[in-house]
Amino acid sequence: MPAAPNYGDAPPKFLESSRPGRPGAGPPHEICDFAGAPGGAEASVASCARSVTHLRDALSHVLAGSFAPAADAAKHAADLGVASPVKLSSRAVHAGRDLKARSPLAPDLSTAAVHVYTDLDDYDAVARGERPGHYYGRNSNSNREMLEKAVAELEGAEAGLATASGMAALHSAMLALAPRPATIVATRELYGGTMALLRQDFEPAGYEVNFIDLGDLDTVRRAIDGAGLVLAETITNPLCGVPDLEAIAAMARERGVPFLVDNTFASPILCRPLELGATAVMHSATKYIGGHSDLVAGVAAGDAGSIGAARARSVRTGTTLGPFDAWLALRGLRTLDVRMRRHSHNSLALARAMQAMAGVTRVHHPLLEGSPTFAVATRLMPRGAGGMMAFDLEGGRSAVQRMLSRFRLVAFAASLGGVETTISYPEITSHRSLTPQERLELGVTPGTVRVSVGIEDADDIIADFAQALSA
Ligand SMILES: Cc1ncc(COP(=O)(O)O)c(C=O)c1O
Repeated sequence: MPAAPNYGDAPPKFLESSRPGRPGAGPPHEICDFAGAPGGAEASVASCARSVTHLRDALSHVLAGSFAPAADAAKHAADLGVASPVKLSSRAVHAGRDLKARSPLAPDLSTAAVHVYTDLDDYDAVARGERPGHYYGRNSNSNREMLEKAVAELEGAEAGLATASGMAALHSAMLALAPRPATIVATRELYGGTMALLRQDFEPAGYEVNFIDLGDLDTVRRAIDGAGLVLAETITNPLCGVPDLEAIAAMARERGVPFLVDNTFASPILCRPLELGATAVMHSATKYIGGHSDLVAGVAAGDAGSIGAARARSVRTGTTLGPFDAWLALRGLRTLDVRMRRHSHNSLALARAMQAMAGVTRVHHPLLEGSPTFAVATRLMPRGAGGMMAFDLEGGRSAVQRMLSRFRLVAFAASLGGVETTISYPEITSHRSLTPQERLELGVTPGTVRVSVGIEDADDIIADFAQALSA
């Protein structure tokens, strides 16, 4: 049972949560996972057979036109102690909705700012959260609710919250997990906007921020003692390192420190930090979840108590997501699995090809042999690492400008995660608030270019970089 919503600033209840998908519970998303099933081989075979039955049932419901929502199917499977019968790729397509006879297959867009009621007790019950329904658009909306449920389901979380941007999701989640001034331990390779939020909003409010190298687990161990929050990104920006989220989560949990992960670059298709032991995750849904560079949105997911507190603050401060962006984000989510596979394939192909290209002195990709965090990335993201990579170009800014003016297909854009291949130049985009010295300390040089590899044909992407960099 989810914990009761926490609408105040009380410390989160995350330490008490023990749901399927936590470390030790076995991988929840795949069927026939013998290693994860309790009770040895016999029980494993029996549980596998039950899983197959559930998958068949779930699919036959789809075919018969009465789809059993994936969340129900997962709950059914969990009640039986078996792994979820519906694979992640199928859940991306169906999660968050509850189809009934004559339901529209694609969700209607509900733009109403307010709903009417004829019974005061009914309104009261809905406003108290005791009955389903919507009453005022800032508090809830059917499109937002579907997106929240879908992301929560894909992340293996009890609850989700959709916000007006990734920064709003981060802000609400951070304050839910660390409501009072405390030490925040954060990766020093944070997205620049997050760095600015910490320095310009959290530090003046009395928080102390300790920026460390999350790749160095001894430093992490020392820094976590007495901290109020640990903040990491699944894949660092722009140099694409992968911190050992599992080891960091274990240390944080041992010390009772909440652990928040920005999972924007990986998406729940490639990495699910809650299963690795994190307390909560957030996304800039502007990126891969939306996937088409046509919306700005954020989502946070975690235990019901923490997300309840984040939701209450987001409602009070008015940062909840509008219906159309929620509708678009859910539409994007439906193809997330196929897009992430293609992004992952293309980025690795480009990274490998770039190693031989003119003027390229270094290529950064989580799954490139020789990458400093190759072993961790392979363990945490066995299906691929998404579309993000970077490279260092000889000749600095003028060489980057030369390449940019020669591109035929690739565009310069200060965002990522869309279907089209884009580059960004951290010196003037994500890391512009840092001094040149601070950038150099992170390994970001005047020749560093970040690439968000799209879903075009890999040969065309490689050819465009090759011609743009040729003599
Ligand atoms: C890793 C990461 N987190 C958070 C954000 C903030 O997201 P938004 O722009 O949707 O507020 C971004 C934006 O680029 C990002 O790259």
